[in-house]
Amino acid sequence: MTDLATFIAGLPKAELHLHIEGSLEPELMFALAQRNRVAIPYGSVEDVRAAYAFSNLQDFLDIYYAGAEVLRTRADFHDLAIAYFRRAAADGVVHAEIMFDPQTHTDRGIPFAEVIEGLLSAMRVAEAELGVTSSLILSFLRHLSEEAAFATLEAAGPWLDRIAAVGLDSSEVGHPPEKFARVFAAARARGLRITAHAGEEGPPEYVHQALDLLGVERIDHGNRALEDPALVARLAAEGMTLTVCPLSNLKLCVVGDLADHPLDGMLALGLKATVNSDDPAYFGGYIAANYRAVAEARGLSRADLVTLARNSFTGSFLPPEAIARHVERLEAYAQP
Ligand code: ADE
Ligand code: ZN
Repeated sequence: MTDLATFIAGLPKAELHLHIEGSLEPELMFALAQRNRVAIPYGSVEDVRAAYAFSNLQDFLDIYYAGAEVLRTRADFHDLAIAYFRRAAADGVVHAEIMFDPQTHTDRGIPFAEVIEGLLSAMRVAEAELGVTSSLILSFLRHLSEEAAFATLEAAGPWLDRIAAVGLDSSEVGHPPEKFARVFAAARARGLRITAHAGEEGPPEYVHQALDLLGVERIDHGNRALEDPALVARLAAEGMTLTVCPLSNLKLCVVGDLADHPLDGMLALGLKATVNSDDPAYFGGYIAANYRAVAEARGLSRADLVTLARNSFTGSFLPPEAIARHVERLEAYAQP
């Protein structure tokens, strides 16, 4: 029998929770800083890595937004995304639904077109050369206003046929989903799918709001839903996908130790959990590292890993025929 790491690397899987800006490795940050003549507050790659010690989400976000300053041109966004796709392909990812934060860039004067055209060109190369399909999730920054989110949706107008979904990220506590109910309704009316970060640091009430007021089709993170048994029962009954990110949870102190991670508890409660990397350059590993770390810490079986991978396809925004094809290939891989 193959060892666990080999089994995980070969397991066909989809990545559903990945911030492309969070895949900016320190080496590329330095290269882009030089290329664009942008000053960064670090002397070396080691300095950058040493700065990645976070005690909560906001600690991380401050550094993550500062890091994104080096991204200026469509070539930068292309290079960023292609580097992610190479790592994802090596980790057995066959489909990735990628979040991007346009406001992080447009607020610095970078045109929306530069951001999205760079990402789209990398996505074409990833499909042609690596066999990895992908789609985009435009994420609104929740610490900014509803008006700013509407302006971002407007700016995305010419590319709406190339955007699968909208999402909601950034500082959660104090910025409940209800703040964005109208802009999500507008996005839905334009045919976009819906996801949102909820219950990462925010209370179960934010998960209720994401369901009731945003009409989400999946929940990004969702850990704190476990505090509310009625909510757990509802999420299980609705087959709601949770995009769980174990190494992120550890680095942002959502869990104190991976040995206490609730992933298998979620599965046992009938929740449709998936494993994802969130911001892999900042949290110490891409998707296979997340599968390995949580499998080892929680003693997951190969059947659990196959369930997680199956959930990643059935929870994706792919059309049913594509989901069926991926699941069939996964089941063939999983045959003993
Ligand atoms: N933006 C990037 N990563 C995030 C996370 N884990 N939570 C909220 N916003 C984010
Ligand atoms: Zn996230």
